[in-house]
Amino acid sequence: MIALKTERELEVLAENARILREILRELADHVGPGVTTGELDRRAERLIRLAGAIPAFKGYQGYPATLCTSVNEEIVHGIPSDKRVLEEGDLLSLDLGLWRGGYYADAAVTLAVGRLRPDAQKLVEATRAALRAAIEAVKIGAHVSDLSYAIESSARTFGFYPVREFVGHGIGRSLHEDPQIPNFGPPGFGAVLREGMILCPEPMLKGDPLPVRILSDGWTAVTGGATLAAHFEEMVAVTADGPWVLTGWIGEEIWGKRS
Ligand code: MF3
Ligand code: CO
Repeated sequence: MIALKTERELEVLAENARILREILRELADHVGPGVTTGELDRRAERLIRLAGAIPAFKGYQGYPATLCTSVNEEIVHGIPSDKRVLEEGDLLSLDLGLWRGGYYADAAVTLAVGRLRPDAQKLVEATRAALRAAIEAVKIGAHVSDLSYAIESSARTFGFYPVREFVGHGIGRSLHEDPQIPNFGPPGFGAVLREGMILCPEPMLKGDPLPVRILSDGWTAVTGGATLAAHFEEMVAVTADGPWVLTGWIGEEIWGKRS
C-alpha cells in the first residue's frame, strides 16, 4: 500500500528534507584528506539533534551509527570509524536520515576527497545523471519501474552497472515505505504514481556487473569486482506540476550545478 500524503504531512516532510539538506551540505564542507569517518558521524548526530530531530539510522535493524560512510569500492552502509582516515582521491558516499514530528527524511550524496581520478569523476557524473533521469520520470500516471528503467538506461549509456541488490523506496511515517524502486528493469511496471506520493530513488552505480558482497561487519556492501561505486538519493514528491525535489537537489548543489 502506497501512502498518499496530505498537504500538512507534505509540509513536515519538506521541512525535514530541508534540514537534512543543510546538514549534508555542512558535512560535505568538512570532508577532506585526514578527516575520519567517525568524526563525520559525530558531527552528523550533533547537527541532527541541534535541529530538534533524531538520527533515523541509529538502531535501525541494529545499525550502529547516525551516518553511512561508504568509501571507494564500498557501495552503501559503510560504518563510520575513527580508524578510517580519508585520503586524497577517495570517493566518499554519505547517506543520512533523520526523524522529526513523526516523519522521516533520507538522502545520500557522493563526494570527492580532494581531487578525484578521471574514472571516479566519470562514475560520479553517471550516477548523478541516473538520478536526474529517475526524477524526470516522476509524473502522475507514470509507473514506478519507469524510474528503474531510466536509471538502468542512463547507467548503461555511461558504461556503468546499476546495483541490483538495493532499491529506492517511498518514505513518510516509516523510513522505508512502498513502493520499492529497483535500479534496473523494463518500463511500464509497478504501481502508478499519484499526487501525494513521496519517493526516494537511490541509484547506486559501479564498474562491474558482479553481485555485491557484504563485509564481515554485517553491513558494508562492496562491489564484487572491487570497482568504485557511487550513490545519490533525493526525496521527491509527486505533484500536479511534476517532481518536487524536497531535498533541493543537494547532490547537484554539492557538485556545483545548482544552488
Ligand atoms: N539510506 C538508507 C536507505 O535508504 C538507509 C540506511 S539503512 C541503515 O535504505 F541501516 F543504515 F539505517
Ligand atoms: Co533511502
